[in-house]
Amino acid sequence: MSDDLEILRQEVLSELAGAADMRAWDAVRVGTLGKSGRLTALLKALGKMAPDERKARGVALNRLRDDLTRAIEDRGQALDAAALEARLVAERVDVSLPPPGTAQGAIHPISRAVEEMTAIFGAMGFSVAEGPDIETDWHNFSALNTPDHHPARTDHDTFYLPPVPGLDVARVLRTQTSGVQIRTMLSQKPPIRVICPGRTYRADHDATHSPMFHQCEGLVIGQDITLGHLKGCLIEFLRVFFDKPDLPVRFRSSYFPFTEPSMEVDIGWSRRTGEIGGGEDWLEVLGSGMVHARVLANCGLDSREWQGFAFGMGVERLAMLKNGIPDLRSFYESDIRWLRHYGSDPLAPALLHEGV
Ligand code: DAH
Repeated sequence: MSDDLEILRQEVLSELAGAADMRAWDAVRVGTLGKSGRLTALLKALGKMAPDERKARGVALNRLRDDLTRAIEDRGQALDAAALEARLVAERVDVSLPPPGTAQGAIHPISRAVEEMTAIFGAMGFSVAEGPDIETDWHNFSALNTPDHHPARTDHDTFYLPPVPGLDVARVLRTQTSGVQIRTMLSQKPPIRVICPGRTYRADHDATHSPMFHQCEGLVIGQDITLGHLKGCLIEFLRVFFDKPDLPVRFRSSYFPFTEPSMEVDIGWSRRTGEIGGGEDWLEVLGSGMVHARVLANCGLDSREWQGFAFGMGVERLAMLKNGIPDLRSFYESDIRWLRHYGSDPLAPALLHEGV
């Protein structure tokens, strides 16, 4: 190849290498292959040459044109890819972050408490089960061994829904999450290990009661489940939830229609200072017991083969104790100042606790 062509090749290649953006690249492309480009001018000049000369020169020029066309295309693609990469980096959006400049929301203490309960029981192998807020009287009471004359069944405590013509079941707004135990035992084969957080309703309203509140139920069914498992599980839960490895926990005999024996669970507390874990006083935090043989039978389980324990707690009550919230009604007043104070960071989810 003659010297002038080789010089042109080197010049164009070095200009291409120096072209840092598409604009510079386009200038090289037009300056080389465009209508009045340098290579185009040489190709045009071929026509004026003597046939012999033209032949050799033509071959060299065509080869040079092919080479430079490819080099220009390659460089264009590389610049294109680099520009796209730079945009992707510059415009990267982390969709899990709050939009810049907007006020950051907070997780409501109820949601947070449910999240923490789920994390703690999740680490113990429980999964979450759900049931409807509008429950049949059978799931909410009868299947749970609650006699017809039980005071919880009165209109005074329970919201009954108007009868539906043609539908032969009484419906209530569920007064407890315990009905989810029944639904779970009817729909899943044991062994079972579930918690059931959810809304519950009772005709009650004062500083510590609200017509709508939340409970978290627990149910474990297996072939060798004992009271020891119940105690170990609940002591572990309470100590992790309140973040107090030596929290005193007391089991006090009690009565629930659906468990036998039944126990109320208390934690150590100081009435004077309100400190959890301190002082000589006890505070009731949840109900529990071994699932009653009649409840197992109502769900088709033979109590000679299957045993289990159950428990139920008020989510508001535990959240109030944990966060020092004095009035239950404040949970539902939608006061943004309250939420800013008691709410928690949405970007710091409850961690999976691995026990104390
Ligand atoms: N359902 C009971 C209530 O609302 C709480 C409860 C107590 C649930 C003992 C249970 C249990 O599963 O075993 O007061």
